[in-house]
Amino acid sequence: SVHTVTTLPTVRQPGCPFDPPAELLDARRQGPISRYTHLGGKPGWLITGYDLVRSVLADPRFSSRKELLNVGDFEVPAAPPGEFLLTDEPLHGRYRKPLQGKFTVRRMRLLTERIEQITADCLDAMAAAGPTADLVTAFAKPIPAIVICELLGVPYEDRGSFQEQIDSFLSGETSEEELIAAYTATQDYLAGLVAAKRANPTDDVLSELTHSDLTDEELRGISLILLAAGLDTTANMLALGTFALLQNPAQLAALRADPALTGQAVEELLRYLSVAKTFMRTALEDVELGGQTIEAGTTVVLSYNTANRDPERFTDPHLLDLRRQYGGHLAFGHGIHQCLGQQLARVELGVALTALVNRFPTLRLAVPAEEVDLRPETADIYGVKSLPVTWDV
Ligand code: HEM
Repeated sequence: SVHTVTTLPTVRQPGCPFDPPAELLDARRQGPISRYTHLGGKPGWLITGYDLVRSVLADPRFSSRKELLNVGDFEVPAAPPGEFLLTDEPLHGRYRKPLQGKFTVRRMRLLTERIEQITADCLDAMAAAGPTADLVTAFAKPIPAIVICELLGVPYEDRGSFQEQIDSFLSGETSEEELIAAYTATQDYLAGLVAAKRANPTDDVLSELTHSDLTDEELRGISLILLAAGLDTTANMLALGTFALLQNPAQLAALRADPALTGQAVEELLRYLSVAKTFMRTALEDVELGGQTIEAGTTVVLSYNTANRDPERFTDPHLLDLRRQYGGHLAFGHGIHQCLGQQLARVELGVALTALVNRFPTLRLAVPAEEVDLRPETADIYGVKSLPVTWDV
């Protein structure tokens, strides 16, 4: 008989801030697919194994459309225009295609120098204010925020109009009312921004997009997706990644000693931490999967973080091993929705993490590890809320 998981856990095992919740690891041990009841009461499936998660992501019989989500006895509205994460082809391609060329490896390498400079400025400010800091506010949040703002052509001074709001979308600790207020405020800000770029185009991605056939509403949705995806994910990878390195001193020392390890180290941290933990898909027809039949109209939860800890795919999966050969992790997803910003994220993580550990050779936690304030499992993106650190001067 197939394993059943009744609700997704809301916390991780005490003392294991980097590991998926014990219930999910246990589900994976029982098999790659479990029966599951969605929060709203509808029956579904929970997929925890690497191969099955990957095959669902590559399978057009599974949809990302928001309005098809079948999790409770309520209607879910379709994604607003431009918010292509929750759409299928051909609509998805209408939004993604014009962006594709703006996030290539080559374009991102050109940005490297600018990212190095932004990082150096943050580290200077941190050193000047030290020898203690909250690594989240001093380092993890500003670097990706400045980068995505410059890329999109959003004035960084305006971040008060969206940064906290976007945080609150993904933190898992926001009431429905606050969510609606945050969403509305961000939409108003972005509508103004799109109008400003149309009137007065500058040298950035959003201005370039005003020359396409996309409507103002669509441009606003695209901007929201790029901001939301670009701010919180990378910020949490930087802070949680630093925490993980501080808890694994031999790995941290290896990274300091060998700059050539950076690329591999970034992939391993992405795999090990999998901050974008779960996504959903809905079956468009009956699909046989892992010996079960997923009925048409059923929504499945895909657990990227247990997939990235699958022992059938990764040797010693719970070990952070920066020398591990890249194993095709799913931290950026797979298939048509695979992360558009992955090359940008890789450059940011590589540049910022190596600069941090080299600039502060004695960097350490300023509180016991158990006291580090973690996001709950209800957050869409996992991470630390603050990371108090200190160093010798
Ligand atoms: C999609 C993770 C950084 C933009 C995704 C998906 C994942 C992901 C897992 C796929 C979602 C799914 O399967 O439905 C991450 C992680 C990041 C990161 C872990 C940081 C380390 C960024 C950045 C950008 C970005 C910096 C900025 C441009 C996007 C967009 C999508 C996406 C636009 C939607 C793609 C589509 O639906 O076609 N990301 N991301 N991401 N990401 Fe990222």
